[in-house]
Amino acid sequence: MATTPGLIHGRFERGFGWIPEPGGLMERSCTALAVDGKVWLIDPERMPDVEREIEALGTPAGIVMTIGWHDRDVDWYSARYGIPVYAAAHLRTVLVRSRVQRVVGTVPGTPFQLLDVSARGVSRFWTESALWWPEEGVLVTGDAIGSASYFVPRSQRAGQRLGVHPFRRPSPPDQLRGVSPRRVFPGHGVSVDEDAAGALTQALDSAPKDTVKGIITSVREVVSRLRGKG
Ligand SMILES: [Fe+2]
Repeated sequence: MATTPGLIHGRFERGFGWIPEPGGLMERSCTALAVDGKVWLIDPERMPDVEREIEALGTPAGIVMTIGWHDRDVDWYSARYGIPVYAAAHLRTVLVRSRVQRVVGTVPGTPFQLLDVSARGVSRFWTESALWWPEEGVLVTGDAIGSASYFVPRSQRAGQRLGVHPFRRPSPPDQLRGVSPRRVFPGHGVSVDEDAAGALTQALDSAPKDTVKGIITSVREVVSRLRGKG
């Protein structure tokens, strides 16, 4: 568990996001959403005092993984609260020891839809889902869309808050074009709760198709960040 102060972000009446290591390289972010007194944890990672925040929302009821390699502290939370783990049926591999209940469509007992945002073509090994809560307009992404520094190249950063993962630029998650969120909670980076639909559209429209250039740009961003310049 991270020992540095974590960050709570995007708090609203039915949930919040948290980043255990805000200054860390990956800017991993996790999400808690509450429905009828029950709390659902999406791609959760441990952070001091976050359990108190989670329990203030309601009773933990389940965990949802958006992408198979976001194992993070899923097993720990599942054991801590005795709650099941859910993942979309289309994910090829899910890297947790807990038993995983595979989902097609809606997570049982919730209004959460798991959208298939997997890559296509040569990148089709990359299977992923996004959680969509239509009534609240909440979209939770895993890796395909994010707000961390390496998702949004510096050259595009003026006014742009969300970007497509560098490795997903040849096959951006166009499945999200029909979604119009009020809030986006990415798996990496802080949430967006102002004109989130516009930010999502901008991310999809501006994803550079040049993967090599995108990766080089992202590596530069990470190096800048390590040097404290990012
Ligand atoms: Fe990730």
